[in-house]
Amino acid sequence: MTLSQLCLLRPLLCRSFIPLARSQLGSGSVQLPPMLRSTVPPPALTRLYATKKSKAKAKGQQAKVNINASLVEDIVNLDEVKGDMATVLASLKEDYSRNLNIRTAPGALDHITVNTKDGRFPLNQLGQISMKSPQLIVVNMTGFPEATAAATQALRESSMKLNPEVDGTIIRVPIPKVTREHRENLAKLAKQFSNKAKESLRRVRSSAITQAKKSKDTVSEDTIRLIEKQVQQMADSYAADIDKQLATKTKELLG
Ligand SMILES: *[C@@H]1O[C@H](CO)[C@@H](O)[C@H](O)[C@H]1NC(C)=O
Ligand SMILES: *[C@@H]1O[C@H](CO)[C@@H](O)[C@H](O)[C@H]1NC(C)=O
Repeated sequence: MTLSQLCLLRPLLCRSFIPLARSQLGSGSVQLPPMLRSTVPPPALTRLYATKKSKAKAKGQQAKVNINASLVEDIVNLDEVKGDMATVLASLKEDYSRNLNIRTAPGALDHITVNTKDGRFPLNQLGQISMKSPQLIVVNMTGFPEATAAATQALRESSMKLNPEVDGTIIRVPIPKVTREHRENLAKLAKQFSNKAKESLRRVRSSAITQAKKSKDTVSEDTIRLIEKQVQQMADSYAADIDKQLATKTKELLG
């Protein structure tokens, strides 16, 4: 545990001598600032402020870092990095629920977006959707007859390749039988979406690390390394979430 790590882990303790610590680190040996040197010797300091996690590291396990984002905000905006990673995961989930539904699943048509003069609405807010048989869904547009044409168009243009038939304010949507081949194709698409999401995640990670390295003339190597580790840790955690989404979707599609 170096002083800079300690600072990042224990902000209150170190806040007052961070500038000093930064200038002293990076040159190899760590010198404690005088005010600490005289009162608390480094080993005691380390022991006193070591977290469970850093103790785990001492035992040779992989330690997790947990940097207080506000302490490094002039180097890299960790909250923003995290937000960008969360966005990658959220748009994967949206791609999955929007584009990769088995057509016969109950609710498969609920969230098809209908563009009307008054704005965009999910289909289930404009019409009553009911499944007459595994091969036929009926959308009753009696509540909003003026949106029937727009709803029909949305169904036709959806990624589910539907062929709706209009009868007054009733839209009949024949559902082709879902073949094994179709399920397998959707599963392949799910994999492609998740690969794309991981690429985006890697881009977020490397641009954050590039950003942090820009400060290498003013910030110690240890601090940069710690930030890199933190960013990597966030990316790993989101990558695991992406894998989980893919596994769930694949199971839903292929059974
Ligand atoms: C992070 O550091 C700031 C500034 O020192 C402090 O106000 C805040 O409470 C800290 N947050 C956490 C979660 O420790
Ligand atoms: C459509 O909905 C209206 C009003 O809710 C109802 O009166 C009518 O019977 C429904 N039509 C069909 C075919 O379900």
